[in-house]
Amino acid sequence: MRKLKLAVMISGSGTNLQAIIDACNAPEYPAEIMVVISNRPTAKGLERARQSGLTAVCIDHTEYENRADFEAELHTRLKENEVELVCLAGFMRLLGADFVSRWKDRMINIHPSLLPSYKGLHTHERAIEDGAKFGGCTLHFVRPEMDDGPIIMQAAVPITPDDTEQSLIQRVLVQEHIIYTAGIRMIAEGRVRVSGRKCVFKDTNWPETNLISPTP
Ligand code: GAR
Repeated sequence: MRKLKLAVMISGSGTNLQAIIDACNAPEYPAEIMVVISNRPTAKGLERARQSGLTAVCIDHTEYENRADFEAELHTRLKENEVELVCLAGFMRLLGADFVSRWKDRMINIHPSLLPSYKGLHTHERAIEDGAKFGGCTLHFVRPEMDDGPIIMQAAVPITPDDTEQSLIQRVLVQEHIIYTAGIRMIAEGRVRVSGRKCVFKDTNWPETNLISPTP
């Protein structure tokens, strides 16, 4: 089976990375990780990658004069590893318009809110403070504006009166892992195409892209 060649880019713990590693370990999963890149040397995800025998590199942004040089190095590493799809998984560094356009429709990101609500940081804390009734996560193609781009999948979870930021983070993370690995599969199977600001799907029933947990 032909497998889609992935890079996973991280900055921290790497639980989404772990979910992608686990999915790729199944022989019938249509994608494989070519390289894991962190911009932070202390990211726990680097350790996860090495433990799984993957190529894991740190490209520390603080060691570069400017963003263009940092992103040129990222691009070189991605090309060297013949990457076809870049998966941002807790990569906490804004990428410039040039880099993003080079990887247009070939770079995806997971964000811990139901976009276009709650772009940026502290999404769960803000949703709880606002009294929002649902939180969730979004898998989307990356565009130059922060947390913007065609939406591939979303999962919604109810926010309960007892929720804290930590409890919501953990509940949403479980869903992030589900939609990330399912979304990569859909892309690898050629079932997702970008049309204007949206994704269009083929051979996909709509509930596959709209998850609610727990199911009503
Ligand atoms: C995830 O919750 C992800 O959605 C978020 O960082 C966390 C990384 O967790 N990403 C963003 O906020 C990007 N805007 P992980 O390292 O355990 O996968």
